[in-house]
Amino acid sequence: MDREGMVGVLMERASVREYTEQEPTRETVEAVVRAGQQAPFAAQLGSLLLRRDRERNPFGAPLLFTVCADVHRLERVLERRGWTRITSDAAVLLFAIQDAAYMAENLVIAGEILGLGSCYLGGAAFAAEEIRADYGLPPRVFPFVQLAMGYPASRPRPRPRYPLSFTLHEDRYREPSEADVERAMAAMDEGYLAQDYYRDYVIPLDGGRRETYSRHTYSWTEHMGRKWGQWLADAEDLLGPLRACGFEVGRVPERREGGSSPA
Ligand SMILES: Cc1cc2nc3c(=O)[nH]c(=O)nc-3n(C[C@H](O)[C@H](O)[C@H](O)COP(=O)(O)O)c2cc1C
Repeated sequence: MDREGMVGVLMERASVREYTEQEPTRETVEAVVRAGQQAPFAAQLGSLLLRRDRERNPFGAPLLFTVCADVHRLERVLERRGWTRITSDAAVLLFAIQDAAYMAENLVIAGEILGLGSCYLGGAAFAAEEIRADYGLPPRVFPFVQLAMGYPASRPRPRPRYPLSFTLHEDRYREPSEADVERAMAAMDEGYLAQDYYRDYVIPLDGGRRETYSRHTYSWTEHMGRKWGQWLADAEDLLGPLRACGFEVGRVPERREGGSSPA
């Protein structure tokens, strides 16, 4: 595949929520995971759990990867070298989530190149205690996202994105004007409406608010409002699962002299 072909794979990708009966072979799964491992890393702080159980996997997918921020293995390595980690949990988690997420995205891309589709599932972090029990995770491993994967039964069209100028700031952050925000919102809303994307899924309004949207007007920006304006207001929703996995994000450790970025 040439360079343009590879970029084309990324431009055509869309999340897949319907899979064929075809089982990915062990070789294919290993190729995808090896490509994942080859992602850039701060300290190889990502690990993957794999479940091949269509009955239990979302969308009946043949593969479900649970992506973990894994500080446990680093601590095992440090211990053997006679070091103790003093980096705060907040900082180590920032790097661990990055390592694991870049790895997971390499799985997505490698999968696409090999004909596999995929879809992330963001609920894992909030169900970390159940996942931890299910897979027998040691402390200091935090499952934060899942990735369903398999051969697509259908290929959705690529979903819209903000205009490039709304995302890319050259030299200096450019505060968007009201017109820029409106244009960006229209690009998203019109794009999703044209695909009738939310035909099966409208987030209900909490607190007795009256519904004023229909399938023909409910689109991405209203969907964002209903998610980020109604859900997960309590930090404990995340801090609780983190604690259950052995991470104390708010704890301030003893001050010590030392370096800056461990990456
Ligand atoms: C962190 C994260 C969490 C997500 N969670 C879900 C989910 O729970 N259910 C789902 O169907 N899609 C989920 N998605 C997929 C997004 O809905 C999808 O990537 C987004 O709508 C853009 O569409 P596209 O991937 O087809 O371009 C998630 C994606 C990410 C990156």
